[in-house]
Amino acid sequence: MKGDKLRNFNLDGKLIILTGGAGYLAEEFTEEILKFNGRVILVDINLKLLKLRIKKFEKEYRNKIFTYKCDLTSESQVKKMFGDIEKKIGLPNVLINNAASNPTMIKSSKGSNNFENFSINQWQFDIASGLTSAFLCSKYFGKINTSQNRVILNISSDLGLIAPNQGLYQDKTGSNFKPVSYSVVKHGIIGLTKYTATFWNEKNIRCNAVAFGGVFNNQNLKFLNKIKKLIPMNRMANKSEYNSAIVFLISDASSYMNGSVTVIDGGRTAW
Ligand SMILES: NC(=O)c1ccc[n+]([C@@H]2O[C@H](COP(=O)([O-])OP(=O)(O)OC[C@H]3O[C@@H](n4cnc5c(N)ncnc54)[C@H](O)[C@@H]3O)[C@@H](O)[C@H]2O)c1
Repeated sequence: MKGDKLRNFNLDGKLIILTGGAGYLAEEFTEEILKFNGRVILVDINLKLLKLRIKKFEKEYRNKIFTYKCDLTSESQVKKMFGDIEKKIGLPNVLINNAASNPTMIKSSKGSNNFENFSINQWQFDIASGLTSAFLCSKYFGKINTSQNRVILNISSDLGLIAPNQGLYQDKTGSNFKPVSYSVVKHGIIGLTKYTATFWNEKNIRCNAVAFGGVFNNQNLKFLNKIKKLIPMNRMANKSEYNSAIVFLISDASSYMNGSVTVIDGGRTAW
């Protein structure tokens, strides 16, 4: 009985589109999907990084991992991608909207992320990368003509639920900020999830979101000491700590979940 239930976690050859497939967390998700017998198409605008990502898995998982270069902010490219995937690889069962432009605080130029200076160009770029991309992929995934059970998983953040604590990002000059666009993208992706979860109730497409807390990635000690005070578990997440949630949320193990937001943040938003 126990074993039967666990079998629901098996991805059983399901074809999974993972956007932002060249990114930091995508490498983790890919490995987990492959271990659970899924097949994965990594989609990203960055072909060089995509090629690097696939190298690690190609040998062991031939014919189970694919890459596709696409600017997900372009409707014509997204439309073509879905056509190509159906023709050349097969019918996708799962879409993970994971791509986003993630501002690293170290790189943000002085003061430009201050709300009062924030440029319309940066706003449009960030909204397009993180939100328009998810809208377009969901639209063309939804249009596929099939009655099979399918899943969309949208990647949000603790900052899709709460405002950033700007004190975390302040340096000596006091000019570093988490940009407003990140908040809007990550809140917006939850709105998109609820919309599509209820729009397609006759199409067998379950749509859920997951809100991750910040992941440890060699941030400086000053930042780490500040952020841990905001997290009841007193630390950032390790890179691999979201993997099992991804498998659960895209597999039949979560078959009655729809329109939900799973929060995995060490308790940060509970405070
Ligand atoms: N890393 C964290 O601490 C953290 C915390 C909470 C939520 N998240 C979310 O998890 C997801 C993955 O995070 P990550 O750290 O791996 O990010 P990342 O920046 O490493 O990866 C994002 C990927 O998206 C791609 N991308 C951006 N715009 C694109 C476009 N127009 N077309 C195609 N690809 C595009 C980038 O090239 C990049 O490879 C993101 O949505 C992020 O907001 C991350």
